[in-house]
Parts: sequence; structure tokens; C-alpha cells
Amino acid sequence: MTAPCSLTEIGWEEFRALPPDHKAVYLQAGAREYHVLLAQQFSRERLDALGRLATRIRRIAKADEGRRYLRDLLAGRRAMLYFTQPSSRTFLSFCAACQILGMDIGEVRDTAVSSEFKGESQEDSVRTFSSYFDLIIMRSQIGGLAERMAWVLSNTDRPVPIINAGSGKDQHPTQALLDVYTLQRSFERRGGPDGKTIVFVGDLARGRTVRSLSWLLTRYRDVTQIFVAPPELQIGEDVLGWLQQAGVQYERTNDMAACLPRADAVYMTRIQDEWDAAGESRRIPTEAFHFARRHLDLLKPDAVVMHPFPRRQEIAPDVDSDPRAVYWRQMRNGMWIRAALIASVFGKDTAIEASHVLDA
Ligand code: NCD
Repeated sequence: MTAPCSLTEIGWEEFRALPPDHKAVYLQAGAREYHVLLAQQFSRERLDALGRLATRIRRIAKADEGRRYLRDLLAGRRAMLYFTQPSSRTFLSFCAACQILGMDIGEVRDTAVSSEFKGESQEDSVRTFSSYFDLIIMRSQIGGLAERMAWVLSNTDRPVPIINAGSGKDQHPTQALLDVYTLQRSFERRGGPDGKTIVFVGDLARGRTVRSLSWLLTRYRDVTQIFVAPPELQIGEDVLGWLQQAGVQYERTNDMAACLPRADAVYMTRIQDEWDAAGESRRIPTEAFHFARRHLDLLKPDAVVMHPFPRRQEIAPDVDSDPRAVYWRQMRNGMWIRAALIASVFGKDTAIEASHVLDA
């Protein structure tokens, strides 16, 4: 089998040196994503189409007959979850998404129990997975590893698709998809994410979810992005470069309370101290970047509070009961949008759209 994407037409070093929006072109199979590695792969049309597909799958899955229909779609196909970095939600929501579509699942979560422990390279590990599985979903603390594996596999005779479930400090495209789906649903009756003000709070320097979501939001009209962080943890210059290139309005500040009245969505994040060399972020005062119950009074009545989770002290648990706290729904949205994405990678989207199972 030859790869349906064009990674066979470019050498690794040349591909690696490209900016993300140029890389994106090599990962597509026609209008659809084949390898899903970067937020830059998704056009506005694709974001709209995947959101619609996720909603359709969600509605179909409400009835027994619908669940049976969905389980037949990818029955007999197998997905490998190669997660060598800690994960609860992303791992479980991908498992659930695969199960909704009838896929069987294998997993490696610790290289101490795989042949990497014996010195096998990651390339050989991933080629091994591709011998037995039809899809590889991977999370790694090594930025760019999923890209490397997609290039390697595309140049073998088992070029199975790779989905990036979080790579280093770099990108988390499927989290950004579920975040956009949450915004689409939250603002369904208010024209969707267009024209909204999104306030990002926390460790924006090392949070990969913010990097991917900030980019996806450039696909919407008149969105203002406000980055609230201590100066040491502010958003990277590369992200600001993307925003400037796209003509997006943005602001940087360390005053969270001052921004809240303007927010349509507040996206809280935790301090990513696993990247510290020697506990340096523990010396940065971060209480001013925590969302407490009193902050709800500053928010518009129809604003939403989001968080990719896991949370620590960034959002007090007594905020959870406010209807504007959508982070638990956001989490469940991850299962539906990931099911939509996998269905699309395997070309099942048109069948789902055309099916009459909802008419029954
Ligand atoms: C995020 C991640 O892994 O980047 N978690 C997730 O996938 N929902 C955010 C985080 O770890 O803070």
C-alpha cells in the first residue's frame, strides 16, 4: 500500500524545517486529514464539518440501533494507543471514540514494558505497531516525534495514519478540536465562535493546548485573543507571529480580573511544572491566575469557563455548579469529536451523514 498523503515526496530534513502551515499540506489525503498532527491542518470548512459530524454521531449514539450502526462502521479495524506520557482524559476519550466506532484497541503506556526497554528505537516500535494495527494514536513528551513517525511510516509499505494526542510543549490538535467544538456548541445560538473574545489564563509558555487552540481560532472572524499570564509564562513569540500573520487582534496582560468582564470564554490552564529544570515555576506567584467563585460575578451571564484538565488550584471546585462552568461537558465533547475525526480519517464521514438511522 502507498501512503495517501504526500509525505513520500519530501525528505525528512526538508519536511522538518518547514513552518507548520506548509507541513500541513503534506499530511492531507485530498480534502481530509490523513495523519492528524497539527492544528494548521484544519480549515474553517473542516472545523464546521467535523463539528456537524460529531453532533450527528452524538445523536445517533442515543439509541440502541444507532449504537449498533456506529459499531459496525469500523468493526475489524484496530487502533494502537502509544501513550508514553501521562494521560487520563485523552487516553480514555480516544478509547471510547474507537469503541463507539467498533474498533479494537491495543496500548503501550510505559516503555519499561516494551522492547524500547531493550534498546529498540521509537521508529522500530512504531513500525512494529503498524504491522498489527490500522491506526496509531500517540502521545509523547518529545516534541515533533509524531511528525517523524508519520514521515517514517508513510515511506514504508504499511503507511497507517498517525494521530497526535499531545506532543511535547508543542501541539495538541485534538484537544484544540474539542475546545472548538465546545465553543461551537456553547455559542450555537449566538453565531458560533465568530466575533467572540477568548481569554487564556495560566502557563501559556508551555501549555500545548493553548498553542493549538489559539491557532484554530484564527480560522474564525473577528475573534480577540487575550493572554493572561505572569511575564515568565507568557505565550510564545511564534504563536504571536501566527496571529500577526493572520491579522488577529490579541493582547497580553497579567491582570486576569480586568479582562473577565470582556470575556465570552475564559480558558484556564495549570502551571506545567513537569517542564521545570529545577522547580523554577514554583517560585512564580500564581494565585492571581486562579479562578475563584467571586470571579463569576465579573463574568457576562452567557460567558463560559473552560479548562483542558487536569486542574489543580486554577479553578475552585465550588465554581463547578455554575452553569457557565462547561469544563465537564468540554471533556465529554472530546469523545464525540475524536469519534468524528477517526470516522473521517477512515472515510466514513459521508456514510454517517447519509445514513437514515436517525429517521427510524
Ligand atoms: C493537557 C495536556 O496534556 O496537554 N491535558 C489534556 O490532554 N487534557 C493539559 C495539561 O496537561 O495541563
